Amino acid sequence: MKVLGIESSCDETAAAIVEDGNRLLGAAVASSMDLHAKYGGVVPEIAARSHIEVIIPVIEEALESSGCHWPDIDAIAVTYGAGLAGSLLIGLLTAKTLAISLQKPLYKINHVEAHVYANFITQTDAPDYKLPDRQPTFPMLAIIVSGGHSQLVLFRDHFQYDLLGQTQDDAIGEAFDKVAKILGLPYPGGPSIEALAKQGDPFAYKLPKAKMPGYDFSFSGPKTAVLRTAQALIGESYDFPSVKLPKRLNLAQKADIAASFQQSAFETIVERAKRAFFEFQPSSLVLAGGVAASQSLRDMLGRAVPIAIHCPDIKLCTDNAAMVACLGFFKANSFAPDELKTLDIEPNLSM
Ligand code: KG4
Ligand code: ZN
Repeated sequence: MKVLGIESSCDETAAAIVEDGNRLLGAAVASSMDLHAKYGGVVPEIAARSHIEVIIPVIEEALESSGCHWPDIDAIAVTYGAGLAGSLLIGLLTAKTLAISLQKPLYKINHVEAHVYANFITQTDAPDYKLPDRQPTFPMLAIIVSGGHSQLVLFRDHFQYDLLGQTQDDAIGEAFDKVAKILGLPYPGGPSIEALAKQGDPFAYKLPKAKMPGYDFSFSGPKTAVLRTAQALIGESYDFPSVKLPKRLNLAQKADIAASFQQSAFETIVERAKRAFFEFQPSSLVLAGGVAASQSLRDMLGRAVPIAIHCPDIKLCTDNAAMVACLGFFKANSFAPDELKTLDIEPNLSM
């Protein structure tokens, strides 16, 4: 079964075709990230306008790269939440129009759940993919770390899961993006901080970790601690965001702050994941979401648990449509197609 996935929840417009929930046949992504870079974060109106311009060419490119034609496509899967309302609308309306005009079943996909399913893609002929050699098995502990979400989820089977814990304030990726802004590093913050952290001392500054009940997270406190550390170093209380503050920090100071923040944020994730691993004894452990692209996080987590962790290819960690198409296959196996008349976006959708 070949599923066309469509993703437009934030600043990436993506389409991909996945066969039988494991084989990536072709994909295309257009990002409006460069347009947002000078604002230090995604501007919803710019993202939505960009989706309108590129969504049809992106779908056509994905089809062409997969060698498929419309009659080959058995179903369409589209992200309907969580995300930016204007961005989600473009993807959903496009998918509905295609489903009606081409008479294809349509499946609505939860973006956060889809991130986990990037780990189920194990085969492709497309160049430059480093894929896991087997699909995760259940029970599966998923560590979801993205720009919008930080969650620990125990999947007993497909579509049967318990949310063990989640962030009570900022998502981890969001905290990386804000810390990058404090330090004057380019957006998105995760990769910028990871690169600079390599030159810094991860134990230079002891950033406080929030004490949260159970498996919950908090990243707002450590982010504010970064701001206070930077202010203390230069002896002046610039407000956030400030273009003056990062100019007063030297490279070594920025590198030490970046490394210390990254260490502290990842220790928080790894501590929760390790505790959940030993409590629930899952058969597999998967890392998902944009922050899963971090090699440092992969290494730290790998050292903390006695089994090999599953990580998607870097291109499948950040927003993409292959994960949407993959989850679409499993939904098509278990559920009836969604009703087009009542299907709408849900920007605040949660797991
Ligand atoms: O999953 P994603 O593409 O979008 C959401 O669904 O939110 O995640 C984007 C986030 C951004 O906050 C970005 O800073 C972070 O993923 N990110 C990273 C890395 N690459 C991307 N964070 C840490 N280290 C990285 N290498
Ligand atoms: Zn995402």
